[in-house]
Amino acid sequence: MTEPEPTIRPLGPPSPIPPDSVPLYGPRYDKENPARLYGELRNRHGAVLPVLLEGDVPAWLTLGYREVHQVLSDSTLFARDSRRWNQWENIPPDWPLMALVGYQPGSILFSEGAAHQRRAQAMTDAMEQVDRFELRARCERVADELIDEFCGSDGAELMVQYANRIPALALAEMFGLPDSEAWSIAEDVMAVLDGGEGALEAYQRFAGAMGRLLEAKRAEPGPDVASRMLHHPAELTAEELTQDLLIMMIAGQDPTANWIGNTLRLMLIDDRFSLTLAGGRRSVGQAMNEVLWEESPAQNTFRWATRDTRLGGRHIRAGDAVVICLAGANSDPLVRAVPDAGSRGNHAHFSFGHGDHGCPFPAPELGEVIAETAVEVLLDRLPDVRLAVPPNELEWRPAFRVRALNALPVKFSPAPARTPM
Ligand code: HEM
Repeated sequence: MTEPEPTIRPLGPPSPIPPDSVPLYGPRYDKENPARLYGELRNRHGAVLPVLLEGDVPAWLTLGYREVHQVLSDSTLFARDSRRWNQWENIPPDWPLMALVGYQPGSILFSEGAAHQRRAQAMTDAMEQVDRFELRARCERVADELIDEFCGSDGAELMVQYANRIPALALAEMFGLPDSEAWSIAEDVMAVLDGGEGALEAYQRFAGAMGRLLEAKRAEPGPDVASRMLHHPAELTAEELTQDLLIMMIAGQDPTANWIGNTLRLMLIDDRFSLTLAGGRRSVGQAMNEVLWEESPAQNTFRWATRDTRLGGRHIRAGDAVVICLAGANSDPLVRAVPDAGSRGNHAHFSFGHGDHGCPFPAPELGEVIAETAVEVLLDRLPDVRLAVPPNELEWRPAFRVRALNALPVKFSPAPARTPM
């Protein structure tokens, strides 16, 4: 049964800005490899430091592996409901990071305790039954169809034409949406993520499609995520179901697409992963794991302190925002005694988060099936694929939340289509 949402208010007046706060925005931040920047900050200021977010809004940046683990493991002390933030009176409604921190009533992302557990369990149970072989077959089909659209020419832009499309199309089918609707749903999910002018209409179309899907599955359940969530013992309400399906789509789409993009980039620029005269490619799986350590698609997330505490030697006040730098933790020398941990099969990174609000099992595995299939099919279909620009001309999206390429232009020898057009 659903509980009414608790009323949570800012915990005290805004904390003062510590004099040694480091701005976490600006041209350097946008352009540089954030892992290097985080390394420098850790060396100079330690595992936890005061920072200024866009608009000089104060927060704590947690860069140490041990400290990130501590924060993510204690969801009572470092909680998800952003209404506690003691800075709200200084935050304008159009603040650039609002999409990340603005409290969304009824969203699982900001729910806590038993209310969160009930919904997370329904997600896990519904995803656990997804057949990995069927998912792989679906991804192969989708990947082949997308490649058919551009393989007759000698080049493509792989983010827009390939990586960004595959996860949403795979997830749409996993949820039980008919193929005829999957493409438009995928486009709506991307429009919601872009947050531009059409985002609200796209959300409304998405919510409408989810409403229709749930109605159809109520009448006739199928072997899909929507049916399993609908009939789950947690008895989710229609509003919760719509919100949770949207979150699963969005949370699955963006990081999986960027996992594909970042892996393809790595394999195209790094000799260790290219075809060599000696033959053989380092496996796609190794490159994918290295990306999770070095270019994590998910870079930063937020928690809010529920009471005064200490973290990494700093005094954190109740209601302070704590930015958890997953990418920073991944590059902490404490866990990087072996530099190429990723390609050696070490999986102890934080790129899927951790704790109550970490990526719910088995979503990381499903994301991996989707990403691995996408990379393998592309390399199989276009064996001489190569970058169309020098590696240093590839542009990244402004990097606070994600590590994501703006575009991945490639060239290849034209190849025949496989599926009837
Ligand atoms: C099938 C694909 C995926 C689905 C359906 C999915 C779903 C979700 C959901 C629903 C959450 C929110 C959990 C909560 O707040 O209780 C979440 C969190 C998260 N996911 Fe995933 N995810 C997928 C793939 C990925 C991938 C590929 C990555 C990274 C490479 C990733 C990284 C994360 C991280 C870091 C969080 C935690 C954010 C935080 O702690 O605030 N996810 N995911």
